[in-house]
Amino acid sequence: MPGLFITLEGPEGAGKTTNRAYLAEQLQAQGFSVTLTREPGGTALAEQIRDILLAPHAESMSVDTELLLMFAARAQHLAQVILPALAAGHIVICDRFTDATYAYQGGGRGLDCARIAQLEQFVQGDLRPDLTLLFDLPVADGMARAVARGKLDRFEQEQQDFFEKVRQSYLQRAENDPVRFRRVNAQQALADVQKSLDVHLVEIMDRAREQ
Ligand SMILES: Nc1ncnc2c1ncn2[C@@H]1O[C@H](COP(=O)(O)OP(=O)(O)OP(=O)(O)O)[C@@H](O)[C@H]1O
Ligand SMILES: [Mg+2]
Repeated sequence: MPGLFITLEGPEGAGKTTNRAYLAEQLQAQGFSVTLTREPGGTALAEQIRDILLAPHAESMSVDTELLLMFAARAQHLAQVILPALAAGHIVICDRFTDATYAYQGGGRGLDCARIAQLEQFVQGDLRPDLTLLFDLPVADGMARAVARGKLDRFEQEQQDFFEKVRQSYLQRAENDPVRFRRVNAQQALADVQKSLDVHLVEIMDRAREQ
């Protein structure tokens, strides 16, 4: 694939969406073509699946249903947005991707990661992100930001223990794959987070030029 596939990961309130805009601005200012997107969602149909996933429902959603909906949305998103943008040579910056499935459905909900890996292979083939920025911060800080932002979705209504497992799962994945992951200290003030992103921006630009 000629483009570069960058994913932003981390818990609620970590600053993924805020910094996605910053990264895009910096890259576009240097003349790169950037596609910004997010998961679950990113296409009209996949956004409808997102609504089902995030809205609180009277009926409890089984963990397998949640997992399959995540990958159903991902299949649609890959076909409609991510693969065409990469084929066109864009830098794709995606707010959450399959690492979030491992962290939330695997770490948080306790699903067997082998099950997730099977679906990953089925839906993505060999496609993996080229680089993943993990926005890490203590659970309480992320939750405080999410609460300040307003109404909580189905995931945000989970308990502290769930988010601790999500965080540990993300950190473990980053530790296991230092070639792909870069950890960002998201607890800092926004200006400092962005300062620490500059080194990653240089790497992203260098790698995009090599493509
Ligand atoms: N470094 C920071 N310090 C303080 N507040 C921040 C910082 N980064 C982002 N925020 C604020 O915290 C809130 C959450 O940020 P943002 O929406 O970017 O997080 P997110 O990782 O996209 O969360 P979610 O997973 O819930 O979408 C926003 O109101 C944002 O303005
Ligand atoms: Mg966000």
